[in-house]
Amino acid sequence: MPETIAEAVARRRTFAIIAHPDAGKTTLTEKLLLFGGAIQLAGEVKAKKDRIQTRSDWMKIERERGISVVTSVMTFEYGGNVFNILDTPGHEDFADDTYRTLTAVDAAVMVIDAAKGIEPRTLKLFEVCRMRDIPIITFVNKMDRESRDPFEILDEVEEKLALDTAPITWPIGRSKTFCGSYHLADNTVRGSDTEVTVTPVNGPQSVADRLPENERAAFIEETELAIEACRPFDRQAFLEGHMTPVFFGSALRNYGVRDLIEALGEFAPPPRDQVADIRKVHAAEDRMTAFVFKIQANMDPNHRDRIAFARVCSGKLERGMKARLSRTGKQLGLTAPQFFFASQRQLADTAYAGDVVGIPNHGTLRIGDTLTEGEPLVFQGVPNFSPEILRRVRLEDAMKAKKLKEALQQMAEEGVVQLFSPEDGSPAIVGVVGALQLDVLKERLAAEYGLPVSFEMSRFSVCRWIAADQPAELEKFLSTHRGDIARDLDGDPVYLAQDGFSLRYESERYPAIRMAAIKEYH
Ligand code: G4P
Repeated sequence: MPETIAEAVARRRTFAIIAHPDAGKTTLTEKLLLFGGAIQLAGEVKAKKDRIQTRSDWMKIERERGISVVTSVMTFEYGGNVFNILDTPGHEDFADDTYRTLTAVDAAVMVIDAAKGIEPRTLKLFEVCRMRDIPIITFVNKMDRESRDPFEILDEVEEKLALDTAPITWPIGRSKTFCGSYHLADNTVRGSDTEVTVTPVNGPQSVADRLPENERAAFIEETELAIEACRPFDRQAFLEGHMTPVFFGSALRNYGVRDLIEALGEFAPPPRDQVADIRKVHAAEDRMTAFVFKIQANMDPNHRDRIAFARVCSGKLERGMKARLSRTGKQLGLTAPQFFFASQRQLADTAYAGDVVGIPNHGTLRIGDTLTEGEPLVFQGVPNFSPEILRRVRLEDAMKAKKLKEALQQMAEEGVVQLFSPEDGSPAIVGVVGALQLDVLKERLAAEYGLPVSFEMSRFSVCRWIAADQPAELEKFLSTHRGDIARDLDGDPVYLAQDGFSLRYESERYPAIRMAAIKEYH
C-alpha cells in the first residue's frame, strides 16, 4: 500500500537548531546526520561547507571570517521518521535570514554550552521561537568538559527564558568521567551513542559503578533528587511552548545525540497547520500548498541558478506538476524540484508537508511567495525587518548605473539586502540589519556583476513601512513628505526618518498613519 498523505505527514519532523556561536551546532548537526545514516563519516558537514565555499566566490567572506552565512536544509530518516533540519546562519548580522527560516519549522533544538549556559544569541533566537509558539527541546552540550552543575543550568533556563524545564536524562559523570545518560522517567541508561537501545537498570545505584568511587555517592544523590524533584515532562505544555524537555550530552564525543533524535521523533510535533489570508491550511489536505522562505543564488555558479527554498505546507508536491504563484497568478512548472542531503542534491519526486524543496528558477520566485494548485491563498507571516543601517551605493563607473539597478533588484529579491527607491528620483538606498550583509553585497556585486561599489552614509537612519485606514490620509502624508518617502521592492511606501526623534515627532503629528518596523511578506 502506498503511503497516504496523512501517514507521510505524521512521520515528518521539521526543525532548526538554535545556538550561540561555538555552542556546537555544526558538530551536533553532523552527528544527527551520522546517526541518521545520512552521512558515513563525521566531518562531512564541514567538508560540504568547504566545498560550497570554494565553488562560490562571494562566500569568500564566510571562509575568511569562519562564519556561516548560508541557510540550507538537510534530511535524514531515523526510527521511521523523516527529519528535516533547517540550518540557520550563526552570525547575528544575518538575523533576518534566520528569522525567516524559523517561520518554516515546527520545532527547534536549543543547544547550550554546559559551561556557559544561556548566551545572548540563544536568548534572542529563543524569543523569536516564543513569538511563533515553536516548541523547544534543549540539548546541553559539552558535558565532557568542565561544566556547570546541571541543576544550575536548569535554573538558568527557567529564570532567563521563563520556561519550565523537564530533564528527560541526567548526565552520568562530569567532564572526564562523563559516560552516558540516565533516563529519569523509566530508569534506563544509554552509554555512548554507539548503543542503539537503552538498557533498563535498577535505579541510579546500579549505574554508579561506572564512575570513580569518589563520585558515586554524589551521582546517586543528585539523580535521585532529579527523579523526585524535577517536573515530569508534559507534552501539551511543551507543544504550547511553556516547557522544554532537557537532554545532556556531548556531540563531539557521541553522547546524548540518539536521545535527542528519539525525543524529536516522539515529542516534536508533525507539520503544523499554517495560517493563510483566507483560511487555515491543514498539513494533511490533498491539495499542495507551499511558501518560499529563502532564496539562494549561484549555488552552482556555472549555471547562475537561483534556488528558492519552499516549505511544503499541505498535499503532495510532485515533480512535473504545475503550481500557481499567488503573487502574480501565473502558472509555474515544477520540473526539477530538489531535495538536499548532507553532501548532494537530488531530484525530488514527491514531497509532503514539512519537507523543504529547492526550486530552481531565474527570478520568478521571491521570498514570501505562496504556491498552490490553483487556490488564490497567501500564507502569512514571513517577516521583513526594518533595516538598522541605511546606505547609498556609490558606483565607481557611473556608466554602469543601469546594471547596478538590476543587480540591486536581484539582491533584494534574494533577501541579501532591502532596496528602497526614493520617490524624488535620487539614487536607491540599501538597508540591512547587520553590517556584514553590506560586505556580502559588495563582494557579490564585484564578483558576480563586475560592479565595484562603495557605500555612503545616507541622511536617513530609520525606516518604517507606512499605511493608513483612509487612503486620503496616506496620500496627504506622502505628498507632504515626498523627499522622505521611498518604495520597497513591492512598491509599498516607506517613510525614511533622519533619526528616532523625527520619527516620533512625525508619528505624533500624523496619528492616522501606521508606522511599522516589521512588514510581513504578502
Ligand atoms: P557552532 O556550529 O555552534 O559554532 O559550533 P561547532 O560545532 O563548530 O563547535 C564549536 C567548537 O566546540 C568546536 O571546536 C567543536 O569541536 C567543539 N565542540 C562541539 N561539541 C563539543 C562537545 O560536545 N565537547 C567538546 N569538548 N567540544 C565540542 P573548535 O576547536 O573550535 O573547532 P574544531 O577545530 O574542533 O572544528
